[in-house]
Amino acid sequence: MAKELLRIENLSASVDLDNEEGKKVILHDINLKINYGEVHVIMGPNGSGKSTLANVIMDNPEYNLDSGKIFLDEEDITELSTDKRARKGLFMSFQYPMQVSGISVENFIRTAKSNIEDKNISIIQFKKELKEEMEKLSFDSSYAQRYLNEGFSGGEMKKNEILQMLMLDPKLAILDETDSGLDVDATRIVAEGINRYMQKDNKSVLIITHHRELIKDIKPDYVHIVYKGRIVKTGDESLVDRVEKEGFTWIKDEVK
Ligand SMILES: Nc1ncnc2c1ncn2[C@@H]1O[C@H](COP(=O)(O)OP(=O)(O)OP(=O)(O)O)[C@@H](O)[C@H]1O
Ligand SMILES: [Mg+2]
Repeated sequence: MAKELLRIENLSASVDLDNEEGKKVILHDINLKINYGEVHVIMGPNGSGKSTLANVIMDNPEYNLDSGKIFLDEEDITELSTDKRARKGLFMSFQYPMQVSGISVENFIRTAKSNIEDKNISIIQFKKELKEEMEKLSFDSSYAQRYLNEGFSGGEMKKNEILQMLMLDPKLAILDETDSGLDVDATRIVAEGINRYMQKDNKSVLIITHHRELIKDIKPDYVHIVYKGRIVKTGDESLVDRVEKEGFTWIKDEVK
């Protein structure tokens, strides 16, 4: 039987607002279970709460977890910091990656990797792996010395997120619209990168996307539709086709 990796139970989350409303509840009673080796896809209209869910799984302090629990490898991680979650094998690629001046791509990834793994990493081995992965992602090797995302094009930032995923080798990668803004060739390169990651033993991925291209060659085990902060439907990959053809209007009718 497949082994459980991540379990989210009855999770509700909000953000604090500066105005008199005080706070906005974004996610309501989310339940989700991801086993080792599974591909989960999340779709849903803009503003439905997909990125919020990804951020709450990583404990982004911008969001309040109001109720519910998160388990990783059956251990309650609800109170753990982002750092500790990363050490336990969670990774998230951002919809809007941040720029970091003064830290090169290579140093950023090497520091993250040595924080996550408790062992010392051989610099020679690390550089070799980084070079190989960069070549596979069609990144010129000079990018390794550039400051993280500074002056990167939208597509380059997204490819850089995939580079981080491949180098950090998490148990579960959460990819938030890693395909948005990519040209046709870059989408294929990113999809191949996800495939390379999935081909390793028992890797799991949670892909947030609006398009089918990225998951064309990656067969989703489950597709979830998030609508108004709830997972309102879970199905197989036929749900992706339906969304492509019909958008989300039918969901509104179904959940009434
Ligand atoms: N920091 C914040 N402050 C105020 N509102 C927020 C904040 N973060 C998210 N929201 C609101 O919560 C809702 C869900 O946002 P979220 O980014 O999770 O949507 P999404 O499903 O990822 O959308 P998209 O497909 O456009 O990326 C939106 O209405 C958004 O405006
Ligand atoms: Mg989003």
